[in-house]
Amino acid sequence: MLVRAKHAVLSLARRAGYEILKQSDPRLSAIRSQAPACAAEITLDAALDALRDHAGNERFAARILDTVLRLAVEPHHNSLFWGDRLLTLDKSAAFRSDPRFAAAMKGVSSDTGATQYASPDGISWRLNTLVWAARTALHTPGDFVECGVYKGDMSWVVTELVDLADAGRTFYLYDTYEGFSPQYSSEDDFPLAPQFFHIAHRGYNSPELYDSVRNRFSEKPYVKVIKGVVPDILREIAPDRISFLHIDMNSPAPEVGALELLFERVSPGGVVILDDYGWFLHTKQKDADDRFMSDHGHEILELPTGQGLLIKHDPCLGRETLGPGRIVAEQTPSDTRPVSAAPDDQQWKIVLRPLDPLVDESQLEVQAPVTMESIQRLLSSAAYNDIIRPYFSDYPAMSLMYHNCRAFIYGLVRMCKPERVAEIGTYFAGTTEVFARALWENGRGVVYTTDPFGAERGPAVIRQWPAALQEIVRFSADDSMWFLNRVGRSDELFDIILVDGNHEYESASFDLSAAAKIMRPGGVIIMDNAEQTGPFEASRQFLAENPEWRELGTCIADFDPSNPFALPRSSIPETSFIVLQAPFAFTIGSKLRAWGDKAVPSAPQSPGFILKLPLQRCSGRLHFQAIYRGFSGDVRTAEELKKHGSIMIALNNEERTIEYQFDEPMISEVFAKSYPHCHHTFEVELFWQADTGSGPLTLAGIPRPK
Ligand SMILES: C[S@@+](CC[C@H](N)C(=O)[O-])C[C@H]1O[C@@H](n2cnc3c(N)ncnc32)[C@H](O)[C@@H]1O
Repeated sequence: MLVRAKHAVLSLARRAGYEILKQSDPRLSAIRSQAPACAAEITLDAALDALRDHAGNERFAARILDTVLRLAVEPHHNSLFWGDRLLTLDKSAAFRSDPRFAAAMKGVSSDTGATQYASPDGISWRLNTLVWAARTALHTPGDFVECGVYKGDMSWVVTELVDLADAGRTFYLYDTYEGFSPQYSSEDDFPLAPQFFHIAHRGYNSPELYDSVRNRFSEKPYVKVIKGVVPDILREIAPDRISFLHIDMNSPAPEVGALELLFERVSPGGVVILDDYGWFLHTKQKDADDRFMSDHGHEILELPTGQGLLIKHDPCLGRETLGPGRIVAEQTPSDTRPVSAAPDDQQWKIVLRPLDPLVDESQLEVQAPVTMESIQRLLSSAAYNDIIRPYFSDYPAMSLMYHNCRAFIYGLVRMCKPERVAEIGTYFAGTTEVFARALWENGRGVVYTTDPFGAERGPAVIRQWPAALQEIVRFSADDSMWFLNRVGRSDELFDIILVDGNHEYESASFDLSAAAKIMRPGGVIIMDNAEQTGPFEASRQFLAENPEWRELGTCIADFDPSNPFALPRSSIPETSFIVLQAPFAFTIGSKLRAWGDKAVPSAPQSPGFILKLPLQRCSGRLHFQAIYRGFSGDVRTAEELKKHGSIMIALNNEERTIEYQFDEPMISEVFAKSYPHCHHTFEVELFWQADTGSGPLTLAGIPRPK
């Protein structure tokens, strides 16, 4: 055994050390002359001495190692990976045999600057980590971000191997494209090698870099190449939701600055990769990243590639009350059946009743908009009491809602046949399912539902539903502010919105006000948990400030200051709902009114707006402020054009359409410079100055651009 080992080392030393050094080092001639005439006679110790002598020089040491690996190590192993200062033996490193990966690798440089080694596999393992991260991120909502792009090699490989266009994801690439920013980075970032700062800065700071990266990605329109200093630029342009975040700026302050702004936007399940995290040269970066993540309840995994890896977890998972076990363990009525779940849905397995019609339309009064009276008739109907309530009283408990609440929601949806319904707070989609079943039976309508903590469980539950129900649901893992903002940008209004998200006063109040803005006239907002102070007080204040809204019930009117916490309190008996109804028309009274900017087709100019006034009697002056906004494709150029004015209006039991023409159109420079890479929005804000004795002005709809 010893002899065999000795022979192996001897031959290794001979071939690797002696032979190579012979070719590369002029000093070798000296060794040669001293060395025995025949190499075979060299002793092991002499060979090792020769190696040790020459390994004193970093460059030679590297050559010795490269050669030893190639000639003496690799032949005795199934595989050897050697690149980017990462050496593995007998690992599959299977990505190397993927032809698509190999083709993508050809488009990039594998040079990390650490070039004294041959590094035949280059940075391919790092790139493979990124490709894996990108593929994983596609299972989570959000866009892709890279901070620190340089020539765009890493992002290039990601875009070559992961179909972001098909997934509808945008990839934001941020860099100064001029090297480090003096404001955030300095020699102090690299206590082990301050000179690295200057060397790297010189390397990154090339005048053509920005244009060459733009050109490189010009055929990939979903890639946005953004020039600016991180973190500052992120305050101006950044996606609201992120599923893939790659940070590679080689400097602690901007890296942590990026995390401070972006980490909260990373969806649960989203992947964060911190390049260079484990490299000694970047210890300050590692310390800063570790501190940040520990403050945010996360831990970074150091990979052998030197990257740091982290998958953002759902802050709510693991909390007892939201765990799936509790739900599934609830009593299962006899007529429910377990649904076979997709393998990855096992954790969220639910029980579900077959999708059968419950109540025939002829058994219900169909009426929209609803009234107090029609609701009362529903609640006292035979269909409601004999079929709907019993059905929901033993329904699988996939929601936190009391069964009478679910019965009421089902009855309401069947009764008013809505087109668009929204729900804030999906939880386990139990109430969403009730909405969807009723809409399915109606034969029309869609339910939008959102839950910032539901990125994983929402889709996992909904995937288990019959296809016909799934088609009716649009789930997103957004918080209510982003969700209501997003759905509010479309011109479409909602018939019913259930507000059941964060029940603190401030959140409930925001959700209610923002939902009110996108309701169809006569539409209904349901505030859940009337017994809680937040939703109740939010509703009470909302009605006080918006007298044109009304409660379909009397719990707010019945509020008794001498007994403010008296229960039960709700609009609908035996539910926890406050039901609020939007006015039947858009009225403008004593408040400034705005409906938010709506996307409009890009056009060179905005000539005016159209206002439809239904039959009414009123007179006064209508003041307006029209705003036309233009944004270039990369959002770096923005313009805001405004016109003020007023219109005298006198209607004597008549209707009118006003086509208002501005004295001069608002002309868009963004359109002139950037079309077709631009987008525009338009809004008209109004104030009604009523003549003495006149009431408010009523609009048939919000003002539209001409
Ligand atoms: C290591 S390179 C990025 C390599 C890149 N990920 C790739 O695929 O090859 C680091 C980059 O970070 C950029 N950078 C450094 N500090 C920055 C800051 N504060 N804001 C924006 N970019 C910065 C540099 O200009 C440089 O291009």
